[in-house]
Amino acid sequence: MKKKCFIFDLDGVIVDTAKYHFKAWKSLAEDLGVDFSIEQNEQLKGVSRVHSLEKILKWGGRTLDPVEFKNKLSQKNTNYLEYISHMNISGLLPDVDRVLRFLANNNQYITLGSASKNARPILDKVKITGLFDAIVDGNDVTKAKPNPEVFLKAARLTKSKTKNCIVFEDSVAGIQAANAAGMISIGIGDSTVLHEAQYNFKDFKVMSNDFLEQLIKKS
Ligand code: BG6
Ligand code: MG
Repeated sequence: MKKKCFIFDLDGVIVDTAKYHFKAWKSLAEDLGVDFSIEQNEQLKGVSRVHSLEKILKWGGRTLDPVEFKNKLSQKNTNYLEYISHMNISGLLPDVDRVLRFLANNNQYITLGSASKNARPILDKVKITGLFDAIVDGNDVTKAKPNPEVFLKAARLTKSKTKNCIVFEDSVAGIQAANAAGMISIGIGDSTVLHEAQYNFKDFKVMSNDFLEQLIKKS
């Protein structure tokens, strides 16, 4: 049987860090006198740091000169790094460990497809780096999700055809990227928000090993 390539997004899929990105953006936006809603925050998920700041500025009708823009990006990241500095294995989202181990035991490719430039240290913190056959993160791509570049790179690194790739994502931009790549898209989170996904699960707790097995065997 052909090996499938399972591509995991990081923030909000593997680790519970989406809330930290939100907090860090929220406090930066407040400094700028811009307010944004939970619904608008959904539009920041999966989106690169630079594009996120551009969106926030647009919502607030604000502009920054290039130096201020850079300073704000680094302010956000410093704040975010403070949130994740105490992270340990308990930061893994429920049942991620079971799913990863099931796939590893079934000899499948496990890869990362994340927009974050902080992905590698986070995987180290939660002690799962060794499970990955390939890691593609924000340092490896030039085009942000919903562009499929990050997932296509993961496919290439494992020499997998796109139709044999399965993407787990908690963001609208990520689901759109997976669909654009011609991969199977699986939404992890609110199915109303992630309605463009081919399959939806609230979290990994409700994703059975039987379902994973069906994905592995799917022709
Ligand atoms: C994505 C997150 O995974 O990474 C976004 O969903 C975040 O919220 C983006 O902005 C970039 O992350 P980082 O860690 O490089 O700022
Ligand atoms: Mg995410």
